[in-house]
Amino acid sequence: MKKLSIFLLFVLSIFVLGACQSDEKVAVSGASSDGVQELKIKFSHVVAENTPKHQGALAMKEYIEKESDGKIKVEIYPNSSLFGDQDEYQNLVANNIQFIAPDLTKFVGNNPQFNVPALPFAFADDEEAIAFWDGEKGQEVLGSLKDDGVLGLSMWPNGGKHLTNGKHAISSPADLKGLKFRTQGGQVLESMYTALGAGSESIPFGELYTALDQGVVDGQENTFSNIESKKFDEVQKYMTIMNHTRVDYAVFTNTKFWDSMNDATKAIVEGGLAAGTEVARAEAKSLNEKALETIKERGNVEIVELTPEQIEEFRKVLEPIYEEYEDEIGADVIEAARNAGK
Ligand code: LMR
Repeated sequence: MKKLSIFLLFVLSIFVLGACQSDEKVAVSGASSDGVQELKIKFSHVVAENTPKHQGALAMKEYIEKESDGKIKVEIYPNSSLFGDQDEYQNLVANNIQFIAPDLTKFVGNNPQFNVPALPFAFADDEEAIAFWDGEKGQEVLGSLKDDGVLGLSMWPNGGKHLTNGKHAISSPADLKGLKFRTQGGQVLESMYTALGAGSESIPFGELYTALDQGVVDGQENTFSNIESKKFDEVQKYMTIMNHTRVDYAVFTNTKFWDSMNDATKAIVEGGLAAGTEVARAEAKSLNEKALETIKERGNVEIVELTPEQIEEFRKVLEPIYEEYEDEIGADVIEAARNAGK
């Protein structure tokens, strides 16, 4: 009897030992011993390195690689070096890349509510824009690409846009008559230029320098950091400081990729996103201020600073846009944008 129980105990311990070993094998192949999956994440964007978007992406990479002990690698592709405005979204949907942070006005084809950053003079500064996108209406708009399998995770600001052109100084609405401007895209920007008697054309960011150089368009609107880092002032003669519309981004990810992460992995990627958001939001203003100084030092463009009365003239001409787009964007969304952070 004693011999039989020793034998049974022996058989049982071999069985238990075997089970433990096979469990361990599964854990090792799926994730490392602390549960973090080995991953390679690609973040593609179109702007230069010296911009809030790239600085945010770098902070994200640094956090994720450090916290995962190098198990998660983040590759950043700036300057449209992997994909440009034309193809980065399709490649996110196809999960060829896992993060993009495009200018929201480039998504008006998916949802006209992404026209919000183009609403004339809606936001005085980054804080007001952030308050809108972090609020209830902004979050609804950011979440509206679900059907494409895309998640809107966080808004990163760049800043107010200003006009540059190669023809003459602009200080009143009448000065735009007959000029043609490049836009990021979207019906509101198009209507804005129509209201000012100008033409417009949407051109990908990566092709803008050449388009300005070759006179495909006379001018464009952008933030100081984009103008300075892409040297648009080399191929423009005038810049009007307007702050009439904005460049704001959303960090988008692929839902399947997002859901494929286990809790330990996702916690690290979420931590990285928070670190990137903090840096992008903290750096946007100072990067734009520094860029304006550099543009002034380079001295390629004559700079017009509008007086409050001149701004008021533009505001008056552009005010009807709000009514024109009330149905398409939604009165509730427009109201939330106009009141955000006030
Ligand atoms: C542009 O196309 O002018 C900008 O939206 C580019 C960017 O991502 O800041």
